[in-house]
Amino acid sequence: MRLACSECGVDAASGSLFCSECRGLLEFRLDPAPHDVHALRLLFKERRASNDSLDQSGVWRFRELLPAIAPEHVVTLRENAIPVYRAQAGAVYADATRLAYLHLGMNPTASFKDAGMTVAISSARSRGSRVAICASTGNTAASMAAYAARAGMSAIVLVPAGGVSEAKMAQTLDYGATVAAIDGDFDRALEIVRTFDSERVAIVNSINPYRIEGQKCAAFVLLESRRWNAPDWIVVPGGNLGNTSALGKGFREARDLGLLTRIPKIAVVQAAGAAPFANVFRDGGDLVPVEAETDATAIRIGAPASWRKALGEVRASDGTVISVGDDEIAEARAIVGRDGVGCEPASAASLAGLRKLREDDTIARDDDVVLVLTGHVLKDSAYAAAFHASVARLANKIVRLPDEAALRALVDRASAVYA
Ligand code: F0G
Repeated sequence: MRLACSECGVDAASGSLFCSECRGLLEFRLDPAPHDVHALRLLFKERRASNDSLDQSGVWRFRELLPAIAPEHVVTLRENAIPVYRAQAGAVYADATRLAYLHLGMNPTASFKDAGMTVAISSARSRGSRVAICASTGNTAASMAAYAARAGMSAIVLVPAGGVSEAKMAQTLDYGATVAAIDGDFDRALEIVRTFDSERVAIVNSINPYRIEGQKCAAFVLLESRRWNAPDWIVVPGGNLGNTSALGKGFREARDLGLLTRIPKIAVVQAAGAAPFANVFRDGGDLVPVEAETDATAIRIGAPASWRKALGEVRASDGTVISVGDDEIAEARAIVGRDGVGCEPASAASLAGLRKLREDDTIARDDDVVLVLTGHVLKDSAYAAAFHASVARLANKIVRLPDEAALRALVDRASAVYA
């Protein structure tokens, strides 16, 4: 694998974050050397039955397709051992017949960030870094804190004051990170982080190409669960757009290696108050940053760093980018809950987006669709509690029963439904 600029293609030194020629983001490029795809598929499958910690990781299990890192430097929490669930309530809600959830919220720190973080922190440790830093809306923070703790590194997090779920902050503090709240938003926090020297501190936001390599493995896990058959569509929430870049890269590489014959179309869904990528997809030209505002705090991002990479992936897949309102996200999130699955608000943008794409028939009723759920329901329990206490159509209010007889009547009514 070689590290090169994602924009001008010039080779880059490992450990750097930006191209020395044009300041573009870097990316790893897989060697064109032929692989025996049957042998690879078998190897990946056999490792799932192994007790080795690297083999049990849904990232390191695919290590032939990752930058080389010596096993003694790898920091793993067995990330990406993630389920694909059939969506039932979600399918009815979006009027789609073949729908599944790829639940990346079932990762060790309960979000998709772990798949990238294991590679970024392992790489930092192999270079002898002592300190890791990131800007975050909460999930990157928790993930970095956990992996840094395992690696014996210090973790420093910059978050927008007041703009992050309490549960994510508590989790990050638990893992021992230093959390610095700033007066600006996520975009300002990332701007500050970018001023640090990446030779001195490990910057582990998704501008770090090692993060992208780990996160691309979610595509492999999904494909493996489907015997290396791609769905027609994959629908993913978009914030800083590292994940869109990573998933697109994963599918493309799998196709280029001969592991699958066609890639899925990628639909990116943003929150309407934080949708600069939807704008640039529609209007063309350069991305115009916005002042981001949405209740889905994980994706409250106005100047996404990876927009060029992500746009390349969406176009290469013949996909699309749309935005949905906060009310649509809230309702879709409740529906994912009714499936006995659950997710945090930002994740539900994918179901809200699918519903919209079904309404205008961009996605056909019988298309084979996978929704990416990026974070666990408990990541923002305060949001869920507030929703159920509200007047929303799907709010599920806590009931007060006057006496035991009322409870018995309730059980009788519930039983009658099945009679
Ligand atoms: N979903 C969740 C739950 C997230 O936490 C994020 C990003 C996204 C979607 C968007 O992914 O940025 O790769 O497009 N959270 C970051 C963080 C920014 O700091 O935790 P993206």
